[in-house]
Amino acid sequence: MMIPENLIQELKAIVGPEHVLTAAEDRWTYAFDATDLDHMPDAVVFPGSAAEISRILVLANEHRFPVVPRGAGTGRSGGAVPIQAGAVLVLTRLNRILEIDTKDLVAVVEPGVILGRLKAAVEEKGLYYPPDPASAEFCTIGGNVAECAGGAVAVQYGVTRDYVLGLEVVLPTGEIIDAGTRTMKGVVGYDLTRLFLGSEGTLGVITRITLRLTAKPAARQTLAAAFKTLKAAGEAVSLILASGLAPTALEFMDQVTLGCVREMLPFEVPPKAGALLLIALDGHPRDVEERAARMARFCEEQGADPILRAQTPAEAEELWKARKVVSPALKKVKPHKVSEDVVVPLGAIPELIAALAKISRRRGLIIPCYGHAGDGNIHVNILYDRNLGEELQAIGPTVEDIFALVRRLQGTLSGEHGIGLTKAPYLGLELSAGAIALQKRLKAAFDPNNIMNPGKVFPAT
Ligand code: LAC
Ligand code: ZN
Repeated sequence: MMIPENLIQELKAIVGPEHVLTAAEDRWTYAFDATDLDHMPDAVVFPGSAAEISRILVLANEHRFPVVPRGAGTGRSGGAVPIQAGAVLVLTRLNRILEIDTKDLVAVVEPGVILGRLKAAVEEKGLYYPPDPASAEFCTIGGNVAECAGGAVAVQYGVTRDYVLGLEVVLPTGEIIDAGTRTMKGVVGYDLTRLFLGSEGTLGVITRITLRLTAKPAARQTLAAAFKTLKAAGEAVSLILASGLAPTALEFMDQVTLGCVREMLPFEVPPKAGALLLIALDGHPRDVEERAARMARFCEEQGADPILRAQTPAEAEELWKARKVVSPALKKVKPHKVSEDVVVPLGAIPELIAALAKISRRRGLIIPCYGHAGDGNIHVNILYDRNLGEELQAIGPTVEDIFALVRRLQGTLSGEHGIGLTKAPYLGLELSAGAIALQKRLKAAFDPNNIMNPGKVFPAT
């Protein structure tokens, strides 16, 4: 135990005894995120305010125990797994939407607000908060900021980073600071807000978020197209991206992925189909009609059949629902998986896909791909069974093959899931020694005693 009994009592005194869990079965619930990794924390703490968090961090700093902030635990890189034990700080009690200001076009929220609830509240006021990761109905906005979540509509709207104007953060030493603005522009001092974006709980605890909102699109069209081969779908993607027709989302599924969600789709997809494209377009009703028709023609030219244009919002909803469960649905094929979220330059997507098929054959593992074709962010999933020795042993070399390939194509290791635990050993494949050393100095400036989410992002030394 990193946290002795007397400090557990102090934690209880800060947040109230009912907000600290210490029973093994309760702590186990907070040992996971959405990876297959786990580690038991010593205590699970549910703070009720920034002031309480500040006192917790002062205590942790004095007694040197790890603090691991988390929201709903939907992360895919082990970021919320308390790998060095200590206290898990669950931010779900900080769940107020403090403001939705339709004149300033901002929302001010606490980190524990569920993203889906925020999106619905904003839309009720006729505005729009675009980021829409697959876990939108369960994940928290605090986790979205900490990991810089992406999602399907990033092609048009960008990612979480592009909507965060300002933050309130409790630093590891207990100080509470404000970063950023409530204004649309701002260049006063260093951009600390962006430094916290994607910092994975290693620099402080985010306690308030000011978000930029945008106009709700007048109309959205959703198209689905089944292709004979993944190659044909890839050709259609290239044509659409080069056409200037500006898709809002451009998603693909390969044959294995498609097989896992086929029954959820609101239309009959031929069993032999090798790929599915899912396209969203936002804009004026007449304009999206015309653009959708032109995109459908690109799909037709590549032999797509059938092509479905969602006739009702409910039908579109069904299509996106099927897309959003792909990641968990892949467990139908094998009980365990490593999910990567590499990004390559748009022109390199076909080469990535072709080379992945070769790696799959060489390593003897099924590696289905799906995801955000419109921005090059491809979800590469290595499926395996932990109980099969040869599969388990092939995982490490397969990951290395994939990352080497991505770097050769001038891509990046993570587009939206973060480094966390799973990719920490590979940081040096992308960042130079000098860049890693500078990042470590930044970390030390914020967190001199390394209490915030230790063991994440940086490779173990
Ligand atoms: C998705 C998640 C895994 O796009 O990022 O399905
Ligand atoms: Zn994704």
